[in-house]
Amino acid sequence: MTRILMVCLGNICRSPMADGLLRRKVKELNLPIFVDSAGTANYHTGSKPDERMCQTGKRNGTSIDELRARQFSKADFEDFDVIYAMDNENYRNIIKLSASEQHRTKVKLILNELYPGENRAVPDPYYGTDNDFQAVYDLLDQATDVVITKIQHGTIR
Ligand code: 4NP
Repeated sequence: MTRILMVCLGNICRSPMADGLLRRKVKELNLPIFVDSAGTANYHTGSKPDERMCQTGKRNGTSIDELRARQFSKADFEDFDVIYAMDNENYRNIIKLSASEQHRTKVKLILNELYPGENRAVPDPYYGTDNDFQAVYDLLDQATDVVITKIQHGTIR
């Protein structure tokens, strides 16, 4: 079973939405993939996702209400096959915790699946508007569609 981890800063906006989208899609397609998410910071450990992200998810057909925030840990390098960072700062903070090249090759920017090589960030919506939350949803919906296609083609294993 392939294990995929989504990582942002707080684990209450972007990474739970990425997690919920990919979880829903692998379930609908009955793919043997385990999905989870975490934050590089610990300020929201144990919290539900941000209410604005929950509402945006619900409006678009992806419930994330049952997810709870946790902090990324070094054990995640062993427990997961692919670790997707939502932006460059999260990417750097994950890499700082790595102990080997084998760990580092697991870490990728999620939007490089949609825009290869461009190193784009999923914008942090925390201080934003409803439109910013919708934009996060749309980007992650598209990026997770690419992840699903790669799983189906065997290029993510
Ligand atoms: P996330 O968004 O990293 O997408 O979960 C944030 C959540 C909380 C904070 C910043 C970003 N915060 O500063 O508390």
